Amino acid sequence: LHVAVLMGGWSAEREVSLMSGNGVADALEKNGHQVSRVDMDRNVAMVLDSIKPDVVFNALHGCPGEDGTVQGMLDLMQIPYTHSGLVTSVIAIDKELTKQQLVPAGIPMPKGTIVSSASLFEADPLPRPYVLKPVNEGSSVGVAIVTDESNYGNPIGKDVAGPWQEFDELLAEPFIKGREMTTAVIGGKALCVTELKPVKGFYDYDAKYTEGLTTHVCPAEIPEDIEKLCLDYALRAHEGLGCKGTSRTDFRWDDELGADGLFVLETNTQPGMTPLSLVPEQAKQMGISYEELVEMIVREAL
Ligand code: DAL
Ligand code: MG
Repeated sequence: LHVAVLMGGWSAEREVSLMSGNGVADALEKNGHQVSRVDMDRNVAMVLDSIKPDVVFNALHGCPGEDGTVQGMLDLMQIPYTHSGLVTSVIAIDKELTKQQLVPAGIPMPKGTIVSSASLFEADPLPRPYVLKPVNEGSSVGVAIVTDESNYGNPIGKDVAGPWQEFDELLAEPFIKGREMTTAVIGGKALCVTELKPVKGFYDYDAKYTEGLTTHVCPAEIPEDIEKLCLDYALRAHEGLGCKGTSRTDFRWDDELGADGLFVLETNTQPGMTPLSLVPEQAKQMGISYEELVEMIVREAL
């Protein structure tokens, strides 16, 4: 097959996408495919039209790429592509729209509120501790946990600098203390839970992509009922959002509350494929090598 691997682009997750894309492209070459590495720019449609791939491996993260824009373009061009389609991508990239879709279907998610970043100079939107996050970024870009010690959100006159200030609108959610976990859906199945234990602070951008800053416990050492719930919620989120190929659903679990303390944070339709990423790690745990995983994802797209 001639596979074009779309990567890079101009989202905040450009560097992560280049890592995912180059890893995927190397694996596809090992598998014997003809590979074109395409660092997405605004001429991407012309580039694809000239190279005429059989299929696109979408290794983009963030906006544009994970948000339906590229999916719509590929639909118009009638080029098959990996991962989720247009409508699913539009919903899943937006953490608030995701809730509107999944909460009525019985998936517990923290009850958030959309706030303007300007309003945070006046008052807290929720009792502390709470989390501020851009509604449609990934890799924890722009995420802040606001605690009693934080200056974030204090009235004007205090030091309020923070990554959230770069965004006009933010999602504020109650902070769920306890543990961070994730489950991938691979080949239509959710089989494994990984717990992420950052060495310090929370599982932020640096903790995600710097070797040694997070311990991955896979399979997670959690009670069987919690494991079952994670697998069940991940599969139901994947199906409820209409995901295709691979997705990954992230959780927080307040272990003092038992099953009532388990919450889905979001479902990622374009999960990372870097050396430290979680989907390849869970695939490996299931006996699927990185090369086999990439091959499965391409075959599902055809
Ligand atoms: N947003 C990153 C790439 C992930 O979900 O793995
Ligand atoms: Mg995400």
